[in-house]
Amino acid sequence: MEKILVLDFGGQYNQLIARRVREQHVYAEIRSYDRVTLDEIRDAGYQGIIFTGGPNSVYDPASPHFDPRILKLGMPILGICYGAQLLAFLAGGEVSAAMNGSEYGKTLLRSERHILFQNVPEESICWMSHTDFISAPPENYRVIASTVKCPCAALGNDMKKIYGVQFHPEVTHTEYGNRILHNFLFTICSCRGDWDASDYAEQMIAGYRSELAGKKVLLALSGGVDSSVAALLLHRAIGQNLICVFVDHGLLRKDEGDFVERTFRETFGVNLIRVNAGERFLQRLSGVAEPERKRKIIGEEFIRVFEEEARKIGHVHVLAQGTIYPDVIESGKGASAVIKSHHNVGGLPDVISFDEIIEPLRELFKDEVRSIGIMLGLPRELVWRQPFPGPGLAVRIIGEITAEKIKILREADAIFREEVEAARLNEGPDQYFAVLTDTCTVGVMGDARTYGVTAALRAVSTDDFMTADWFRLPYEVLERASSRITGEVPGVSRVVFDISSKPPATVEWE
Ligand code: XMP
Repeated sequence: MEKILVLDFGGQYNQLIARRVREQHVYAEIRSYDRVTLDEIRDAGYQGIIFTGGPNSVYDPASPHFDPRILKLGMPILGICYGAQLLAFLAGGEVSAAMNGSEYGKTLLRSERHILFQNVPEESICWMSHTDFISAPPENYRVIASTVKCPCAALGNDMKKIYGVQFHPEVTHTEYGNRILHNFLFTICSCRGDWDASDYAEQMIAGYRSELAGKKVLLALSGGVDSSVAALLLHRAIGQNLICVFVDHGLLRKDEGDFVERTFRETFGVNLIRVNAGERFLQRLSGVAEPERKRKIIGEEFIRVFEEEARKIGHVHVLAQGTIYPDVIESGKGASAVIKSHHNVGGLPDVISFDEIIEPLRELFKDEVRSIGIMLGLPRELVWRQPFPGPGLAVRIIGEITAEKIKILREADAIFREEVEAARLNEGPDQYFAVLTDTCTVGVMGDARTYGVTAALRAVSTDDFMTADWFRLPYEVLERASSRITGEVPGVSRVVFDISSKPPATVEWE
């Protein structure tokens, strides 16, 4: 199978690079720079290598580096941002801090006629985010693009097939980013582009069928698309030896628990155990307001419940989880800085009484998981169900969690979702939900003064949940949701709409 190595130096957009490559039907594998050796790279037979961005300066002693002999492997390389600076530095060029400040945001790029810029106009918009820049390209490298602030916005050595771009072709703000990556993959690396997520899933099913033969596997099913796809995938591989444990932690959306139970048990005939553990979670969360603590507690309690179930079942060797690739990276398992821990990878206790943990989707992006879901016959409504965080409503209740707050949020959220769905928008938001803030404000109802909590509505559109735009919901939808929430949910006196994008905000409030 042809594949591209995305050598991860810790930038925030690293997964996007892999995703963009896979969108062009070339398998991309991300490896952290400090967890792969030169020999491994040589032996893996990659078609090409992409050096990712990184948060550092190449002259910082703590900055991530790599064996300079990587430039002599004969594999085509494309360095992006820090990756471009690093390869310039490794090849003997110079990198300096920009005298006129950092370059950030949409920027006019002037590119030369070059294979990397095939079918890219001479002037186009690119996305810049850097402080250092390549001040002197290495010998035998030629500058092939520039911006006003950055005299070397792209450089290359055609003999060696090594290229660097200071801008980010992987973010959508770079107008011709996909085209530039396409040129690298197909013209420079000679890829064929025959990779497909469904083939990958079939291989995985066949692999698990033999690897897990005779073993009982326990899966944490939440009913979200990730764990649902993981469940069906494993169900296809090992049938009734897959036992799905659905922990209802009491932090699910309205009627969600019953829906999940019905779908899996009745429609798919999956071996399912539902554990109603709401009280137990609530007790452990009592008095806790700090977001990361909440996540950790929920993660730990989840595992405990599983362990207890596993003990009841007996002979369970493997724990399966629906972790997907963005969870892995955002939890700091890659080189990127930790943003927030995800309960399914961040909160695992050190001692765990399963022999093995498998994460069938850990290499996959959300859209790839969805296309596998469709292939496995998951109904479209489930495949396209909006994501819901593992810790559930806990990360949407700011401050301490109480039964009363859960009840308020559940109702407000159900109304908001109902109104968005009723509006039948042609292209609706990818995720939308209500948040219960800890701000109480004064209201008036009839002739009486009220003092109630503020609910926030959040709607975002996104391709990958790594970046997201706040969604421009029609005012009528917001109006109906707001008046219904304040009218129908006792305790809420005000509704606000969140107009922050990611970055700098995240999708969830906690
Ligand atoms: P953020 O808030 O990180 O959210 O911008 C990105 C996407 O991830 C979901 N999310 C989570 N999913 N466990 C999960 O399984 C979590 O702890 C968690 N936190 C956020 C979020 O709903 C959004 O779709």
